[in-house]
Amino acid sequence: MSDKKKILIIQSIHEEGINILKNNSEYEFEITDNLDEENLKLKISDCDGVSIRTAKLSSGVINSSKKLKVISRHGVGYDNIDLVSAKENNITLTITATANAVAVAEHVMFMLLNISKRKDMYDKTVRTGNFTDRNKLPKTIELWKKNILIVGFGRIGKCLIKRCKGFEMNIFAYDPFISKETIENFGGKKVENLSEAVQSMDVISLHVPLNDKTKNIINYDLIKNMRKNCIIINAARGGIINEVDLNKALNENLIFGAGLDVFETEPLNQNNPLLENDKIFFSPHTAAFTEECMIRMGRETIQNIIDFFDKKLEKSKIIKL
Ligand SMILES: NC(=O)c1ccc[n+]([C@@H]2O[C@H](COP(=O)([O-])OP(=O)(O)OC[C@H]3O[C@@H](n4cnc5c(N)ncnc54)[C@H](O)[C@@H]3O)[C@@H](O)[C@H]2O)c1
Repeated sequence: MSDKKKILIIQSIHEEGINILKNNSEYEFEITDNLDEENLKLKISDCDGVSIRTAKLSSGVINSSKKLKVISRHGVGYDNIDLVSAKENNITLTITATANAVAVAEHVMFMLLNISKRKDMYDKTVRTGNFTDRNKLPKTIELWKKNILIVGFGRIGKCLIKRCKGFEMNIFAYDPFISKETIENFGGKKVENLSEAVQSMDVISLHVPLNDKTKNIINYDLIKNMRKNCIIINAARGGIINEVDLNKALNENLIFGAGLDVFETEPLNQNNPLLENDKIFFSPHTAAFTEECMIRMGRETIQNIIDFFDKKLEKSKIIKL
């Protein structure tokens, strides 16, 4: 029997990550893109470590492992992992903490500019040759001096604020776990009360994890008090915004628009009424999908496993279970 450590890579990653394992004689690995529970139970049974992207890692799968010591999330959110089973089995959970904040922050700016500059409508006008009605086109919106609320001032929130400063926006942050001083040092103002704060915002961007406290944090009751020109961006997790409420509010012209990278169910069902709403700008959970970021995440997810077994894994990359 081989004394090499066996790593299961659930969902393919960038080859630069794979190459780290290929060049390390202490490890062997297998990649699986078959996400059926029975397949994962079988594959995980003799593994020492797992790298996983967005697939669900259920308690059934985790409990099928006989010697699993480390789960390495390719990304930073870990709502797809059964944390109770990971804890019960004394497994360490690690994330690619430093890899994707810039990519997500850029994606938020990309969505925000596309919505405020009415990219889809204007692009269509040119493509259909409909120039004569130019003055009848609705106006675009400037970001200059507009109020933005960053909900969740962690790694991504801190990257986003730098980009918003470039556009000379007034920046506010809601995060009960981050001090006023930290937020002010980054050039923002801390707000204590979310439902009050949203009423004077032009942009609201979500960067909190999905959990019992953040689920449906943006709902109809909150949206109905927002400014009519408000744009909401969700590049965090589906479920943080209540999708039915958002759609209703957009259809009632309560706010200007929304940018959604993530959904309650992914991929988004083709019958979902959100798809009929042209005030929503979509991307398919690709905020961190830049070439550069995929390389960083691919390398980091594997390096975290190796660092764990070498007892060198940084504390900041370990999730307390
Ligand atoms: N769309 C994508 O591809 C993509 C990529 C990366 C991350 N994400 C999502 O973005 C989230 C944020 O990522 P990050 O790296 O900035 O995480 P992070 O842990 O560094 O920051 C999250 C922040 O949210 C705050 N927070 C927690 N609960 C809160 C609450 N109830 N109200 C307000 N603030 C609260 C925390 O204090 C923390 O500062 C992740 O949890 C993940 O779900 C999505």
